Amino acid sequence: MRNFNEENLTDAVLAKLAGATNPRFKQIMTSLLHHMHDFVREVELTEEEWFAGIQFLTATGQKCDDKRQEFILLSDTLGVSMLVDTINHHQPAGTTESTVLGPFYVEGMPELPNGSVLGKELLGDPTLFSGQVLTATGQPLANAKVDMWQADAEGFYDVQLPDPNVVRLRGQFRTDAQGKFWFWTVRPVSYPVPTDGPVGQMLLQMGRHPYRPAHIHAIVSAPGFETVTTHVFANGDRYLDSDAVFGVKDSLVVDFIRHDPGQAPDGMQMNRPYFTVNYHFGLKAAD
Ligand SMILES: [Fe+2]
Repeated sequence: MRNFNEENLTDAVLAKLAGATNPRFKQIMTSLLHHMHDFVREVELTEEEWFAGIQFLTATGQKCDDKRQEFILLSDTLGVSMLVDTINHHQPAGTTESTVLGPFYVEGMPELPNGSVLGKELLGDPTLFSGQVLTATGQPLANAKVDMWQADAEGFYDVQLPDPNVVRLRGQFRTDAQGKFWFWTVRPVSYPVPTDGPVGQMLLQMGRHPYRPAHIHAIVSAPGFETVTTHVFANGDRYLDSDAVFGVKDSLVVDFIRHDPGQAPDGMQMNRPYFTVNYHFGLKAAD
């Protein structure tokens, strides 16, 4: 076939899927092609605009390396990550809601004992994060894993620092016999997603701010239960209602409570003001 035009080109491309043997792949490609072609027709994309789109996606890929994931950032800031999350997780009562993974997760961080002090050398308010991992019916889960990571008090993750060997404000904790875990960290602050790449340019052109409300990331898992990827957000943050990646859910917003110097709940003697935050993660039994 030849002499394709606006009317028949889409069908001709779709026909090329006739030999696809994976039905799910075929379904996804069919829908994607329909939407993509309809989009081009609807906006009557010019050649300059088409090339600008190619350049944008190329720059997005070129910005990625083993520490920087500009494509996840693009997906996050366009709400695609949150849409995928919402479609795939319908949490029953008593279980923790999920939210985006974000671009800064690093796998395989060391397992640390409960009570560990993260970021001792860093600026910021000392914060005792404690909690429990429970079943949907409130039974404690011993030996569950809480894999956490967060930005520092200036809003930077370790992977954003010039020295790629620095690992900080990350770790994996195991719950004790009562399902409890606890560690010291610094109080997170709201921070802008990276704006030095193509996604930052896009946000600027959209007239959006790049900020995320203060949060601590966690992936919580236990054998026989569904793993949940989530955040704990700081109540009162000014960006809770305008998160650049659309990730906030009411059930994930908690109070970071300020205390005067003195003995902290875990027995630590604090000579300066500190904060405590307590959160119970509920896990859904695996099917
Ligand atoms: Fe984050």
